[in-house]
Amino acid sequence: MEKILVTGGAGFIGANFIHFALSTDPDIEIFNLDALTYAGNLSNLDILPDPARHYFIEGRIEDTSLVMDILQKHEIFKVVHFAAVTHVDRSLLDPERFVATNVWGTVSLLNAAYQVWREQGMLDDPCVQFHHISTDEVFGELQQGEPSFSEATPYSPNSPYSASKAASDHFVRAYHHSFGLPITITNCTNNYGQFQYPEKLIPLMVLNAVNQKPLPVYGTGSQVRDWLYVTDHCEAIWSVLNKGRAGETYCIGGNNQPTNLEVVQAICSILDELRPIAGSSYTDLIRFVTDRPGHDFRYAMNINKITQELGWSPRTDLKTGLKKTVQWYLDNPKWVQDVIEKNEYKNWITDNYTKQRTAK
Ligand code: NAD
Ligand code: TYD
Repeated sequence: MEKILVTGGAGFIGANFIHFALSTDPDIEIFNLDALTYAGNLSNLDILPDPARHYFIEGRIEDTSLVMDILQKHEIFKVVHFAAVTHVDRSLLDPERFVATNVWGTVSLLNAAYQVWREQGMLDDPCVQFHHISTDEVFGELQQGEPSFSEATPYSPNSPYSASKAASDHFVRAYHHSFGLPITITNCTNNYGQFQYPEKLIPLMVLNAVNQKPLPVYGTGSQVRDWLYVTDHCEAIWSVLNKGRAGETYCIGGNNQPTNLEVVQAICSILDELRPIAGSSYTDLIRFVTDRPGHDFRYAMNINKITQELGWSPRTDLKTGLKKTVQWYLDNPKWVQDVIEKNEYKNWITDNYTKQRTAK
């Protein structure tokens, strides 16, 4: 059995990755270290393909001795690092938390892995890999018509979230360059799919719509994101884990760039079909509200490197992926209720929408 330490595996992408990896490879075991913050949810791991090969450990990536102990005790030589705080709007209200988790947490994790693998004389062994999950937001923003981001694009982060992810990426690269830690990095565009915490655009809009609440589009809704269905992201990570070259970065994206307003309208028309309301459309709920400060205009990713070197490209088009995602939120009312009834969710909605944003 190959053993993998996944950090942040109770969150959105980490949990999807654990489902994907356990069903793809019968010869792996996953040790999942997660602090269970507001975004961590053990119900994401309720129905795993083979639960006996998944071990959950509640703890923080900053806890170096805990991480060293896990790596040593279970003879783990692969780390897949998802754990982070991830929401741009929250980073505008509490930047220090993003430094603590994303920068300091990542450095602590790097340190733990480096110390253990160096003492074991494993640093040059081809089975050893520290894989860091990052974002396209480290590259800054594009204007209309500018070429997509690629592995060669200089970093230019604009929000406290993207600045903290950029700093963590630099530390990962530095541990490779200075200490010979075998690392890989992936920078991916916006994900969507099952288990996403409903503070992010797509699940927020789905849940507000089904509850007949306003759909708050920031500014004019003309900003552009490159959306990737989460299972396609997991497959891309898997290809880097199996075929990626140490020290390399790979850009991952969905090859589509709708405006935010188009995404919200697409969600509304899916709901008009799946859960129609006589005499009205969900689009009637759309409201334009105060924009996010420093709102990045456009992201787009050039995925030539990962396609040509590793043979990965996205499988799920936006229409199909959105329909599956909306259906998942409709089919899982208990998951939804458990999340939205918690005070930490209600407080976030008050802090970000009632206090920060007015209708335009
Ligand atoms: P998420 O917010 O849904 O989940 C994060 C998980 O990390 C949670 O389970 C949380 O409990 C855990 N966590 C937070 N702090 C921790 C700590 N100190 N120690 C241990 N666990 C901790 O995030 P996500 O959307 O699944 O994102 C996962 C990774 O992918 C992040 O690194 C993010 O930057 C990156 N990413 C996300 C997207 C996206 O669209 N969601 C796109 C590109 C890259
Ligand atoms: P989000 O899901 O927060 O991801 P990111 O900021 O990391 O791209 O937001 C996606 C886009 O949707 C972004 O341009 C901001 C916009 N947005 C809204 O218009 N309204 C909302 O309520 C939210 C959460 C996001």
